[in-house]
Amino acid sequence: ATNTTATKVLAAGDAALIAAAELIAQGQPVAVPTETVYGLAADATNPEAVARIYAAKDRPAFNPLIVHVADLAAAERLAHFDKTALLLAERFWPGPLTLVVPKRADAPVAGIATAGLDTIAIRVPAHPVMRALLAACNRPLAAPSANASGSISPTTAAHVFASLGGRIALVIDGGACKAGLESTIVRSGDRGIAILRPGPVTREMLAQATGLDVALAYESPAAAISAPGQLASHYAPRKPLTFDEVDPPADAYVIGFGAAEGDFNLSASGDLVEAAARLFDALHAADASDRLRIAVAPIPDKGVGRAINDRLRRAAV
Ligand code: TXA
Ligand code: MG
Repeated sequence: ATNTTATKVLAAGDAALIAAAELIAQGQPVAVPTETVYGLAADATNPEAVARIYAAKDRPAFNPLIVHVADLAAAERLAHFDKTALLLAERFWPGPLTLVVPKRADAPVAGIATAGLDTIAIRVPAHPVMRALLAACNRPLAAPSANASGSISPTTAAHVFASLGGRIALVIDGGACKAGLESTIVRSGDRGIAILRPGPVTREMLAQATGLDVALAYESPAAAISAPGQLASHYAPRKPLTFDEVDPPADAYVIGFGAAEGDFNLSASGDLVEAAARLFDALHAADASDRLRIAVAPIPDKGVGRAINDRLRRAAV
């Protein structure tokens, strides 16, 4: 992509919403806050609009996008929901859960959005600004995280501007994202449910809601096939990173947790949800520092800590 577009940043509100809806109607992508991370949203029914998302991000074309809709009824126009998928949708939507479900043959979604797969990843977001945009546009919006491909997901408008400034027309500034971590992606089908990407909705929450065993597909090599976008390097900062560091090297930018202080403590009180919300901020700060490498203190591998460790494993590649 070329860096020739003047990028406006508008505070969330009526004027920003009208400008965003107009751009989306013209087939342009717009950066918008969600409860997880900022998304780069475009009309999912318009293949050129979706292509502009890939272009702005320099995203590998085989990486399918999440399609956002206003409610379950809109989701059911795009895909088939079996009993389990319905249960998950009713329990966790609107919210940070993405369901990978069989796509309807006549779904009004551009093939480029799903990268030609016969499944589709769908989410009903909870953030009021993203919900207002969905209502204003009255159509499904494809929205990956609003960052250049392979870099860290943005949790503030400033992160978006730093990564995509000059490449997109508009960023709606809705403040910092609450979860600060991308949605949990779950595949629901005849073979049960499996987490393709861990996130704010944890395995424990999914198991409790369904009474089913929840497979952790992202831990097996086969996950590379079922979630083609889960590239090993997807979350990489620009500097070498090591994690689970009890005794971090003196020259590293240290990301701490709990009593292990560091240059940036994810949560002094050892709260994993707070740590998740601050993770990408910490990685951005580490990237911006004058230190040549990054070391992260051990994070407990439970609850949303598993999602944090998954991101760190990818960041370490
Ligand atoms: O929280 C989020 O989910 C954010 C906000 C903006 O909603 N979006 C986000 O999108 O993280 P993105 O494009 O960065 O991540 C989409 C992930 C990719 O890993 C992709 O491979 C996977 O979803 N995906 C999309 N469609 C899929 C499908 N049909 N089957 C399996 N994985 C799929
Ligand atoms: Mg992303």
